[in-house]
Amino acid sequence: MTTTTSTSGPTSAPMPNAGSFPRAFLQGRATVVVGLQWGDEGKGKIVHYLTPLHDAVVRYNGGANAGHSVVVGGERFALHLIPSGILHKGKRAIIGNGVVVDPAWLIGEIDKLSARGVDMSNLRISSRAHVVMPWHKDEDDLRERLLRVESAAVTGDGKGGEPIGTTKRGIGPCYADKHQRATAVRMGDLLDEAALRSKVRMIAKIKTATLGALFDALPSAERPEVRPVYDAEVVVRSCVEWAKRLGAMVGDTSVELLRMVEEGKSILLEGANATLLDVDHGTYPFVTSSSTVALGAPTGAGIPMQSVGRVLGIMKAYSTRVGGGPMATELIATEADRALAHHIRERGREYGTTTGRPRRVGWLDLPAVRYAVRLNGVTEVAVMLLDVLEGMQQIRVCTGYTVNGKPAEFEPDAGWMSRATPNFETLEGFSGEVSKARTLSELPKEARAYISLIERHVGAKVAIVSVGPDKDQTIRVGE
Ligand code: GDP
Ligand code: IMO
Ligand code: MG
Repeated sequence: MTTTTSTSGPTSAPMPNAGSFPRAFLQGRATVVVGLQWGDEGKGKIVHYLTPLHDAVVRYNGGANAGHSVVVGGERFALHLIPSGILHKGKRAIIGNGVVVDPAWLIGEIDKLSARGVDMSNLRISSRAHVVMPWHKDEDDLRERLLRVESAAVTGDGKGGEPIGTTKRGIGPCYADKHQRATAVRMGDLLDEAALRSKVRMIAKIKTATLGALFDALPSAERPEVRPVYDAEVVVRSCVEWAKRLGAMVGDTSVELLRMVEEGKSILLEGANATLLDVDHGTYPFVTSSSTVALGAPTGAGIPMQSVGRVLGIMKAYSTRVGGGPMATELIATEADRALAHHIRERGREYGTTTGRPRRVGWLDLPAVRYAVRLNGVTEVAVMLLDVLEGMQQIRVCTGYTVNGKPAEFEPDAGWMSRATPNFETLEGFSGEVSKARTLSELPKEARAYISLIERHVGAKVAIVSVGPDKDQTIRVGE
């Protein structure tokens, strides 16, 4: 283990106008905001911060598994399906075709935000977005129960193995049906009751049979209380209610966005979940079911890839993860590690915005972030929650991996991660009123050294440093 207190600058060339976001530069381009770790990096805060510079904010993936917190004037808002840009009046807020929409959840979210005075008149939903139906949530739950039981059988300890640890919002089963095609329902389908009725009759029959089989496969002590049986008429009645509330917002949002791109308007693409949870590029199988990365943004919004001009990668100053799967830098091995994790969790409010689950906490994994930077084509990075590390005597950071005694590049694979040993460097901690800093020079020198170390390792310019949840607690580097 080496000790580093370097303050040298980045090795990567800064992007044009990095950190300054002039409106002219953004015109006709889309900016992707994407998480570089396992989610909850602070995407919501940054989307809210950047929305005034854009004409529309679009969610392109995921569903109510996401939880984006935004603090405005001390008031905390939690966004799950609705783009965080909704909090700025007059901006188009679009739920894109790549999202899976739970209509009942969405109506609840609309009502809660409306009750707090948020204007919903600019919200639009893609007719091609898929609907999370009741059977998707049931299947998510049944599969997680089965995985727990079956993994326990494999490990032989009877204690229960490791399920994926999903949010049980029906995300995986809904995306699976999207790809199955015949058993899927899209938002546009809700608008034609007669056609919907015959479709739902067919699907209800299939789901009653397939989910019934999953239910029967569970030992009785592990089963949910009620066997899943779907009455098509009951489901159609819910769909009709959803259509009454949401129908006027549903349309071809891709057509609208294409027009905006051609008119030179600027679009903010709000990623949900994060790179290491991507279904292709994350720590499979402990991932979500959508294309979370910037590569998925054009397809999930329905705009050409050339319209994406910038990719802003969001990372925390440490690591967190919710749910199952490997996390090499997790603070878990010793009592002291767990106490430190607890300290960070409490300071950083590291509890799931969606499920309330305590987040697993670890040191920053720079090779993992570097991988995410390269994969997403990140043009600049925002380092979030730096203030949470304030007051620690030492900070550790993973700067490389060793496999079979040799240096190895990060691989987003659960099997690889279980064989790889993280190599840590130890840095001097920092103290002082970090959350009050508004320029880099107001940060303690050890905190600046930490930012420089991040730049050197991840290979992208740090354009934003966040030192608190509020919009004002933001440092624009280079200004
Ligand atoms: P998201 O899913 O990426 O939008 O992130 P979440 O909202 O789930 O989690 C990030 C949490 O950190 C939220 O509670 C934010 O209010 C909070 N947050 C964002 N930036 C900062 C920061 O710089 N410092 C602190 N202390 N909290 C922050
Ligand atoms: P935001 O947008 C953190 C995790 C779940 C689980 C795995 C699969 O707030 O950063 P799923 O329900 O999607 O099938 O669960 O992915 N997960 C997230 N973790 N932040 C998120 O979103 C997440 N979205 C999904 O905890 O491990
Ligand atoms: Mg979150």
